[in-house]
Parts: sequence; C-alpha cells; structure tokens
Amino acid sequence: MRFATLTLLVAVTISGAPTYDGTMAQTAAESRNTGQVSSIVDRPARSRALFSEIAKVLTGPRCMNCHPSGDEPLQGEGRHVHRPVALRGGSNDGVPGLPCASCHSDHNVTLLTAEAGYRSIPGHPRWGLAPIEMAWEGKSVGEICRQLKDPVRNGGRDLALLHQHIARDDLVGWAWHPGAGRQPAPGTQKQLGDLVGAWIESGAECP
Ligand code: HEC
Ligand code: HEC
Repeated sequence: MRFATLTLLVAVTISGAPTYDGTMAQTAAESRNTGQVSSIVDRPARSRALFSEIAKVLTGPRCMNCHPSGDEPLQGEGRHVHRPVALRGGSNDGVPGLPCASCHSDHNVTLLTAEAGYRSIPGHPRWGLAPIEMAWEGKSVGEICRQLKDPVRNGGRDLALLHQHIARDDLVGWAWHPGAGRQPAPGTQKQLGDLVGAWIESGAECP
C-alpha cells in the first residue's frame, strides 16, 4: 500500500510539472524514471533516488535565486545576477540604505504597465537571501544533500525540523506563488514535503 501511494506521489510531483526552464517535464523517459524510484527495493538506493527527485525542485530558479553562492541574489528563469544591483549585507536582507524591503514588499506586486522586462515584483514579509552557509548554487546534488542534513549549515535543524521547514514554511511556499510572469516551482509544496518525508523514512541517504 505504501509503495502504491509513493508511486502516485512521485509521479504526480514530477509528471506534467514545469521544470526550471519553463518547459514541461513530462516525457516518456521521465515517467519511467519516476515510476522506478518507488519500485527500488534496496532502501539506500531508493533513498538516494528520492533525493534526486527532491533536487529537481531545489535546483530550480524559484529556490536557487535566493540560495546563491555569492553576495547578490539571482533573477529570472535563467538565474542571471539581480538587476538593479542588490547586495546581501550582514543580515542577508540588504545593505544600509538599500534593504531588500525598499523594493520587495510583504506581497507580490503586479505591475500595471508592460514597460519593464518583468510583470511583477516578488514579495514576502521575510524577503531576503538564505545565509551563505545555506548556499546551493554551483554545488552538486550530493553536496546539497549533505549540507541540508548538517545542523551546522542548515540553521541547527534535525531531520524532523528540516522536513517541517520544507513542507510548511511560507517563504519556501512563495516558490509556488511567485507572482505574474514567473514559473512556479514544480508540483506543490505538499508533494515536495511528502517526498522529503519518504526520503527521511528511507534513511536520508545522499546521492
Ligand atoms: C525569498 C528568498 C527565498 C526563496 C525563494 C527560498 N528560500 Fe530557502 N531560505 C531563505 C532564507 C532567508 C533562509 C534562512 C531562513 C531559515 O533558516 O529559517 C532559507 C533557508 C532554507 C532552508 C533551511 C536551511 C538549509 O538550507 O538547509 C531550506 C531547506 C530551504 N530554505 C529550502 C528552500 C526551498 C525548497 C525553496 C524553493 C521551493 C526555497 N528555500 C526558496 C530564503 C529563500
Ligand atoms: C532597487 C530595487 C530592488 C532591491 C533593493 C532588491 N530587489 Fe530583488 N527584485 C527587484 C525587482 C524589480 C525584481 C523583479 C525583476 C525580475 O524578476 O526580473 C526583483 C526580483 C528578485 C528576485 C527574483 C525572484 C525569482 O525567482 O525570479 C529575487 C530572488 C530577489 N529579487 C531578491 C532580492 C534580495 C534578496 C534583495 C536584497 C538583498 C533584493 N532582491 C533587493 C528589485 C529589487
């Protein structure tokens, strides 16, 4: 029964979901791959495969643009450096005189004119960059996985708190409601949370 649920879950998460570059992820090969994840009998191998599915969301632009390895946020589907210039600052929410909040309010703002190259300015009450020790840009899926599990680099979270953060945090949730002109992250936050739950249950192994 659990396998059946998981198969559905993994398939639902990935099939038909937009990928980071805005194209549709669904291909015959891919649905075969996701079906295969839940049928892997070897537990560590299944766990590693589950993380690879999770990583498809984490490495997309909606998450990655706020988890860069440098001191500037990234923007857009192509993850270019943020324009106008914006800097991380000591608390990851901008520099004196130019906090993120000077442009990003507590909600997404849709522009009324089409003159800018974008259709909305994203917003959230806690808008800011993930601290540098939580940077994912330029790292392999295995490196991201080991970092996520490491309380020294994940904000002091054990696996249960990590799960809760990904499944429930509303700043993470912004990625599925990113404002006009932006592709939402693949699937839903609940589906990602369920995948993370299954990954932890299978031993939280890293690829
Ligand atoms: C607007 C910027 C922003 C976006 C978008 C964003 N994050 Fe984060 N992220 C942060 C900040 C800020 C923190 C640090 C806050 C904390 O630790 O509670 C963080 C911390 C985290 C953490 C805990 C620390 C770690 O790295 O282990 C996880 C997990 C995480 N984010 C996942 C995601 C996922 C998944 C997405 C996309 C679906 C995402 N984030 C999108 C800003 C963002
Ligand atoms: C001077 C105004 C301004 C400041 C300051 C500013 N931003 Fe932005 N930001 C924008 C505008 C406008 C957009 C929309 C442009 C776009 O998406 O192409 C944007 C888009 C973004 C995006 C893109 C979201 C996505 O997924 O595509 C991120 C991430 C971001 N900003 C983070 C930050 C952070 C973090 C700070 C503070 C360190 C900050 N910004 C400071 C104006 C600003």
